[in-house]
Amino acid sequence: MAERILITGGTGYIGSHTAVVLSQLGHDIVLYDNLSNSSDAILDVLQEITGKPIPFVKGDIRDTDLVIHTLKSHNIDAIIHFAGLKAVGESVEKPLDYFANNIQGAISLLKALQTQSINTFIFSSSATVYGEPQYLPFDEEHPTNALTPYGRSKKHVEEILKDLASSNPALRISCLRYFNPVGAHESGLIGENPKGKPNNIMPFIAQVAIGDREELCVFGDDYPTSDGTGVRDYIHVMDLAEGHASSLAFLENNTGWHAFNLGSGTGFSVLELIHAFEEEANCTIPYRIIGRRAGDIAEYYSNPDKAAKLLGWKTKRNLNEMCSSTWQFQKKLN
Ligand code: NAD
Ligand code: WQD
Repeated sequence: MAERILITGGTGYIGSHTAVVLSQLGHDIVLYDNLSNSSDAILDVLQEITGKPIPFVKGDIRDTDLVIHTLKSHNIDAIIHFAGLKAVGESVEKPLDYFANNIQGAISLLKALQTQSINTFIFSSSATVYGEPQYLPFDEEHPTNALTPYGRSKKHVEEILKDLASSNPALRISCLRYFNPVGAHESGLIGENPKGKPNNIMPFIAQVAIGDREELCVFGDDYPTSDGTGVRDYIHVMDLAEGHASSLAFLENNTGWHAFNLGSGTGFSVLELIHAFEEEANCTIPYRIIGRRAGDIAEYYSNPDKAAKLLGWKTKRNLNEMCSSTWQFQKKLN
C-alpha cells in the first residue's frame, strides 16, 4: 500500500537512494535534512531520476516543533530515520556531539511521532552495534557490545525503541543493521561523495582510480584472515535501499520491535575489493600496506537469514556491480 513517508537524512547517501526506490514504488516521499553532510543540489538529480519533484524540508531533527509541523502538513504515515553523524573516529574525539545528534535527535523525532499517532518507524542501525565477534556470522541474537561512541549511540537508540515498543503495542519498529554499504545508483547520478578525505575504503579507492589520490593505504596485512587484510560484508546501496521497502511492507503486517541484519552474508578482504575494482575500472590501484587502524576488527559478516525469511529480501548485486557503479558515479563527478 502506498504510504506518505518522511525520510530524515534524506539528502544523504543512503537516504537519497532509498528515496528513489520508494518513490518509484509509488510512495509519497518527503525529505528532511539539515544539510550538515549533504547538499540540496541532489533534489534536482532525484527529480531527474524519478521523474517527479520530491518535497524537501531543511531542518534539524532536534527541532521537534518543525518535525511536528512537517508531519502534520504532509500527513505522514511512516518515518525512516537516517539522519545522524556517522564518522566512527570523530565520535571517539567528540562523543557528546554524537550523543546529542544521534540520541537526542532520535528522542526529539520520536516525541514528534507520538504527537501525531504515527506508528511505523524504521531506524538506520549498524553492524557496529555487535562489537568484537563472539562468533561469525553475526546473527541478530549476537550480544551487542559496541566499541565506540558512534556504535553506542546506535545501540542506545535501538534500546530506546525497544522500550517504546513495549510501552505501546500499536508501534511497528524495525532496526536495520547495515553492514558495509557501498556502490551507487545505476544512473551514476547519485552515490557516495564524502567531504574531505574519505573514512571508508570504497570512496577512497574510487578517488585513487580517478587520480585524485596517489595510493590507498591498506590498514594491516597481518590479520588472521585468508590474505591477512580486513574482511567485511559489503552491500550494494541499491540492495540496501530495497531492504527498506521490504521492511516497510513487513511492518504493515507486524507490530512490535524487530532487528534485521542487512548484509550479503559473504565477507571480502581489502585485497579482493581492490582487485574487483581494478577489473571493473580497468586500471591498477596503487596501494601500500601500513599498520593496522586503531579499533578495526579483523573480520565480520552477516547472517542474513532472518531478513530473507521475514522480509523476503536478500542482496542481488555482487561485489563487481558494487565497484562498477561506484566507478560510473566517480567518473561523472570529476
Ligand atoms: P550521510 O551523512 O550521507 O547521511 C546522513 C544525513 O543526515 C546527511 O544528509 C546529514 O546532513 C543529515 N543529518 C545529520 N544530522 C542531522 C540532524 N541532526 N538533523 C537533520 N539532518 C541531519 O550518511 P549515510 O551513509 O547516508 O548514513 C545514513 C544513516 O545510516 C546514518 O544514520 C548512519 O549512521 C547509518 N549507517 C551508515 C553506514 C555507512 O557506512 N554509510 C553504515 C551503517 C549505518
Ligand atoms: C573497511 C575495510 C579497513 C580504509 C565503518 C564503520 C561501520 C559502518 C561502515 C556506519 C577495513 C580497510 C579502510 C582505508 C583500508 N558505518 N581500509 N584502507 O571500518 O568496516 O566500517 O563503515 O555504521 O560502523 O566502522 O569500513 O570502509 O572504513 O573499512 O585498508 O583507507 O577497509 O581496515 O578492513 P569499516 P571501512
